[in-house]
Amino acid sequence: MADPGSTTTAPEINRGLAGLIVAETRLSMVDGTNGRLNYLGYSIADLAQHAQFEEVLYLLWYGELPTRSELDELNGKLTGARKLSTSVMNVIKALPKSGDPIDAIRAGVTAMAMEDPTCHDLSHDAVREKSIRLAGAMPTMLAAYSRLRKDEQPLDPDPSLNTAADFLRMVHGKRQSKTFEDAMNAYLVCVCEHSMNASTFSARVTISTISDIYAAISTALGTLKGDAHGGANQKSMEMLLEIGSPDNADNYVEESLRTHRRIMGLGHRIYKTRDPRVNQLMGHSAKLAEETGNATWHNLAQRLEEITATNQFFLDRKLFPNVEFYSAPLLYMLGMTTDMMPGAFAISRVGGWSAQVLEQLEDNHLIRPSALYTGPESQTYVPIDQRG
Ligand SMILES: CC(C)(COP(=O)(O)OP(=O)(O)OC[C@H]1O[C@@H](n2cnc3c(N)ncnc32)[C@H](O)[C@@H]1OP(=O)(O)O)[C@@H](O)C(=O)NCCC(=O)NCCS
Repeated sequence: MADPGSTTTAPEINRGLAGLIVAETRLSMVDGTNGRLNYLGYSIADLAQHAQFEEVLYLLWYGELPTRSELDELNGKLTGARKLSTSVMNVIKALPKSGDPIDAIRAGVTAMAMEDPTCHDLSHDAVREKSIRLAGAMPTMLAAYSRLRKDEQPLDPDPSLNTAADFLRMVHGKRQSKTFEDAMNAYLVCVCEHSMNASTFSARVTISTISDIYAAISTALGTLKGDAHGGANQKSMEMLLEIGSPDNADNYVEESLRTHRRIMGLGHRIYKTRDPRVNQLMGHSAKLAEETGNATWHNLAQRLEEITATNQFFLDRKLFPNVEFYSAPLLYMLGMTTDMMPGAFAISRVGGWSAQVLEQLEDNHLIRPSALYTGPESQTYVPIDQRG
């Protein structure tokens, strides 16, 4: 049968697949008109203010919030997985120090696949167990790589700590304050799941070919790092650093409008109002500014928000702060270098990716769209020596 993409009639092309519904999901509801987000019916505000990241992982993987003993059991598995195998740690150690940290996670995930003899087992329970191992291991990979490139030894995980606290400890070499740990936890909760975003779609495409969960997460990591997606937290912070001070914000916005330069952390394919995660992250950013005694980055983000909220260009296009707007100062004040920020996003989003992979496998259909062929109709092959 002919590929429908090869037809010469001109069907409508949906560039960017905007608005196209390709799956059902019960995991998160994104209401872009009213600025609402929930995970299985729980509002992001409630979860960010009250839940541990691990409770959210349980919710996504098991479909309900855990009891205390269920959470303890999951924590046991997650903390066990936080300790990398020797071969995975050796892969991280062997990587060039000049790369993007999120790519170190990708290498580590591939190494995990290659040492898992049941890599190809796509049964529900097996994929869920692998998801737990991935979510446990990825924070250690990122923390280890961040230390190795400063010529510091990676630290062993501390199973008595939750993901947020232990990740910060493994990055910095010592336990951080409660304000820091709470901010990291809220960040992990806020960015864990977001319906059919680009990286989740990538993960679903990969698993739909009957590949494996590691390959799906690896694909998603590659998609997440782009500037229009998870790489935007890095670009947002680089922009704040370039602007330097709230006093320079007006000029920066004016110059951006004149030169058609995008303000990073602004605009969203779905949200046409303020992203509901912004309030939560802004609150923690403010607390970090107070605790660190340096409010420059938080105040600068606020000033940019004030300026763009009253400018007709941004109002006409419904460009409001997205999740990266305050993630950037938040992660920076937590001591992340700008290039670690997409990786910090990934150690949370792995929860959403893997839960969506499980959903895809429940009723799998190969995801394979079509393209409209616009090349030459027919050409005669000319041997290479006869081509002029
Ligand atoms: C997120 C994003 C990719 C969504 O893009 P999209 O829905 O495809 O929207 P478009 O790229 O078609 O942009 C629509 C219009 O808004 C403008 N626009 C979009 N984001 C803008 C931004 N951050 N700053 C300035 N202008 C922006 C575009 O120039 C375009 O203007 P035009 O109609 O005059 O040509 C886009 O808003 C963006 O690049 N934001 C900055 C990066 C970012 O923060 N990404 C993280 C997303 S969570």
